[in-house]
Amino acid sequence: MLRLQASVTDIVPTSRRMARRTFLRTTGFLVLSTGAVAMIGCDGGADILDPNLDDPGDTNPDPVDNGDTIDPGDVDGDPVDNNEPPVDDPPDGVEIPMSADLLNVGGVQVVGDKATLTALDSDNANGGDDPVILVRVDEATVAANTVTCTHQQCNVAYDDGRGLLVCPCHGSEYRLDGSVKQGPAPRPLLSFDATIHEDSVFLVKA
Ligand code: FES
Repeated sequence: MLRLQASVTDIVPTSRRMARRTFLRTTGFLVLSTGAVAMIGCDGGADILDPNLDDPGDTNPDPVDNGDTIDPGDVDGDPVDNNEPPVDDPPDGVEIPMSADLLNVGGVQVVGDKATLTALDSDNANGGDDPVILVRVDEATVAANTVTCTHQQCNVAYDDGRGLLVCPCHGSEYRLDGSVKQGPAPRPLLSFDATIHEDSVFLVKA
């Protein structure tokens, strides 16, 4: 027997033996590859390489988790959608947090903070920074004017029934855009454009 085996080996050319080895290696590779493809193709195969194994909403059969159930605009990363409105950038202007009163229509807030008034450059009648009176006209509108009457520097007050700013000293009346409706006030109030954003109002000189 030994002699026979030796003789078979001897008679198989070296090139054929190499070809046989190559064939065996190739066949083994194909078997392994076919097995891997079968695993990926079955249900749940997408999650073999998908790090998000428990993602029940993954409708993408590809092996890479594309995060396809997550809205790219979703700020909280909540996989359940979400018709959340986009997050708006705050508007330009000096931010003033609204008081509890100003959060309601008809509410009034007087801003006297020195730093805020300096930022607003609210100098109007007194040669200094005048406080600003904010009036909540409706849900979407705040009127903003300096509070100091341009006649003799009394503070105006809001007359809700008439929708006017009225000076208690000599009866001057101002509209909510700061213009004089009735004297003796010689000049309008300094007015600001106001934009409501969340619970703040942002003021820019008109
Ligand atoms: Fe306002 Fe005179 S101070 S009307």
